[in-house]
Amino acid sequence: MNFITVSNYDELSRKGANIIAAQVIQKPKSVLGLATGSSPVGIYRELIARYEAGDLDFSKVKSINLDEYLGLDGSNDQSYRYFMQKNLFDHINIDPANTYVPNGCAEDVAAECEAYDARIEDFGGIDLQLLGIGLDGHIGFNEPADIFEKGTHVVDLHESTIEANARFFASRDEVPTKAVTMGMGGIMQAKKVLLIANGAAKKEIVQKAFFGPITPLVPASILQLHSDLTVIYSEN
Ligand code: F6R
Repeated sequence: MNFITVSNYDELSRKGANIIAAQVIQKPKSVLGLATGSSPVGIYRELIARYEAGDLDFSKVKSINLDEYLGLDGSNDQSYRYFMQKNLFDHINIDPANTYVPNGCAEDVAAECEAYDARIEDFGGIDLQLLGIGLDGHIGFNEPADIFEKGTHVVDLHESTIEANARFFASRDEVPTKAVTMGMGGIMQAKKVLLIANGAAKKEIVQKAFFGPITPLVPASILQLHSDLTVIYSEN
């Protein structure tokens, strides 16, 4: 594991963007696994700036996102599809047909989950997976549980996750209680993993996840077994 401590969010975002930019430059047809939430916003801003400067070309890139709230479609401004459009896809030259986010409104959610895993396999796996980490150690929406769940699946979001995500909604009651998430199989099969964590509130969980025992009660701890993991942490 390459654990990098940086002094602020801007530095985290620049260093994170450097890793993604290097991936896209070295392999223009990269499959990028992407995340939402507040942590990656700065990285996406950096990537857009580098695209606008003519330094990055996303025309051959494919992207596959980690998760989506159940019941929200892409036109809902709280959906993760909407987030990705506004924070990245609408500003770069990625082909919209090559961007994948789970369909939170699929009629047959089980079939949607299976198709999502089949797509990842079809791609030959993810080249670089970007992750944030929840206060309870979740990655994607793989919440603490008795087992590490392998495939894409539907989860009941934990209280602490609903609480943490309420900041993005008008009220806590509007936060969906279920989501579709890529499982640990898709994440662990990624050739490279980049996890970013920002703020003093994440310090304890980062310590537990990367320097404590590997347990499904701290889902991110499984990443200690990944052979190409970079963690960038900024306390400020
Ligand atoms: C989002 C995701 C989540 C977030 C995590 C941290 O696609 O998969 O695991 O990365 O909840 O969220 P922030 O960055 O908002 O603290």
